[in-house]
Amino acid sequence: MDGNGRWAQRRGKPRIAGHLAGVSAVRATVEACARLGLEALTLYAFSTENWKRPQTEVTFLMRLLRRFLREEVELMRRQNIRLQGMGRLTALPPAVQRDLQAATEATAAGTGMVLTLALNYGGRAEIVDACNARWEEARRQGQTETVTMTDRDLQAHLYSPHLPDPDLLIRTGGEMRISNFLLWQCAYSEIWVTPVLWPDFRGQDLSRAIEDFQGRERRYGGLAQVAGQP
Ligand code: IPE
Ligand code: MG
Repeated sequence: MDGNGRWAQRRGKPRIAGHLAGVSAVRATVEACARLGLEALTLYAFSTENWKRPQTEVTFLMRLLRRFLREEVELMRRQNIRLQGMGRLTALPPAVQRDLQAATEATAAGTGMVLTLALNYGGRAEIVDACNARWEEARRQGQTETVTMTDRDLQAHLYSPHLPDPDLLIRTGGEMRISNFLLWQCAYSEIWVTPVLWPDFRGQDLSRAIEDFQGRERRYGGLAQVAGQP
């Protein structure tokens, strides 16, 4: 969800005004995705690198996140959404952890879309944490020798091992990079970059991305599938 700062700057407002406006885009996108019947939506809300921003901006983002978690819970329940956090969550401010926990519990019975908020999330950190978790598991099982990892082992120790790999990765704000998002899971994701700044992102932008995605040929390193042939 990139481009909040630029959105504000273009209006002669402080960066935080862009983050505030970005909440409307979150609400619209979550609702549109749930209505489309998507299995999962993951939003990159705060990265392991975002702590480098000015303290005032970080504090504002945390406050905004808490407000979102409190105010949107009812709407999420009505939309049958199950919310969860993903990242190094124990390093988040305790109040944020509490609100996240409360929202997760309040929506735990949701059988529709899984809405994952990537918070204090980094793709490299996730892979490192998965390796360490696997090693810790092996140690508990008394295997103190070398631990050989397979794709499946690593997958099983990711923050949300049951989430499907993303089919489509949308980046707003026009930058052509992944910025440490879902590095493991995005191996074969289709990427859509739009110059639209996050606070301006709405259902029609989502539709445009999905329409483009539907025209892509996905080969996963193999050869093109010919319809009707194995
Ligand atoms: C993304 O918008 C919001 C978060 C990281 C939470 P930015 O704040 O990165 O906006 P730009 O890139 O400066 O426009
Ligand atoms: Mg940015």
